[in-house]
Amino acid sequence: MNNNNRLNISRLSDTELAPSELIEQALKIYTLGAPSLYEKLWESMRYSVSAGGKRVRPRLTLEFCKLCGGEELAAVPFGCAVELIHTYSLIHDDLPCMDDDDIRRGKPSNHIAFGEDTALLAGDALQALAFEIMLCEDTLSRVDASSAAAAACALAGYCGADGMVGGQVIDLEYENKKASEEVVHEIHLLKTGALIKAACLMGCIVAGADSKMLAAAEKYAECIGLAFQIVDDVLDVTSTTEELGKPVNSDSENDKSTMVTLYGVEECLRMADALTAQALEALDCFEGDSSFLRDFAVQLSKRTA
Ligand code: IPE
Ligand code: IPE
Ligand code: MG
Ligand code: MG
Ligand code: MG
Repeated sequence: MNNNNRLNISRLSDTELAPSELIEQALKIYTLGAPSLYEKLWESMRYSVSAGGKRVRPRLTLEFCKLCGGEELAAVPFGCAVELIHTYSLIHDDLPCMDDDDIRRGKPSNHIAFGEDTALLAGDALQALAFEIMLCEDTLSRVDASSAAAAACALAGYCGADGMVGGQVIDLEYENKKASEEVVHEIHLLKTGALIKAACLMGCIVAGADSKMLAAAEKYAECIGLAFQIVDDVLDVTSTTEELGKPVNSDSENDKSTMVTLYGVEECLRMADALTAQALEALDCFEGDSSFLRDFAVQLSKRTA
């Protein structure tokens, strides 16, 4: 049953919530569900969404919206939408037919807790929910319909065959065979970079940004997206399962080609630094205060989890 009222986040407008809390509260509202015969499905969706995660993508959406002069609350549905798509991609990424990982966000992976069938369907339902949120009545009361459609269309493009899903396909295809730097670069751009790009661009679109701002956001997103996946590959060999909340050595166990297998940890960290510097440069064209996005890019490249 479609009950649009359950997606109403207007009550959050009266509060003085910090951006991170705003994202958490909105995700909670969006995943409440309602009593039904398929309650187990909602439970499994909430299980993965509420397990935490760094919330990198929704934060990017909110911050780019503000940088381009938009209202924070207007960006919330779009930030949450990309976080739900990201969460679905992680649920599917952990399945035995993909990376076969048993821990995610510090808890048993969705398929371990609920079974493969429910995990698969929870991912499907999270994807549909993301698009419902972006185009529901409550969102359209704050964002004009053409901007909402443009943002949703951008996310559709970046999460599908020519974006995240395409990247996952190449990633799997190159298990047990050596990929060149060009192939690994393409995998990173698509499987990770695409959703990060969608997150940044949707914030700009909702704020009515001009083409110069969109191009700068795209450049920033591409650089931090590549750096993000390089650091993820590094942490897979240097961190611990406790700190990461997901199994380390997953890439070597699946015989993946990564930037680490091509160049080693030190060179990868140098590459991440250089990409971060390029991301900061891209922000120079904004007149507003870009300090949060600058610090964020640096923190992400230096992260340990
Ligand atoms: C993990 O993403 C998958 C990659 C694209 C590297 P995150 O590191 O953002 O995962 P969460 O959301 O914090 O769990
Ligand atoms: C996953 O890349 C990217 C997506 C889920 C789209 P990884 O397989 O490296 O992510 P982790 O390390 O399992 O989080
Ligand atoms: Mg994977
Ligand atoms: Mg994985
Ligand atoms: Mg990884």
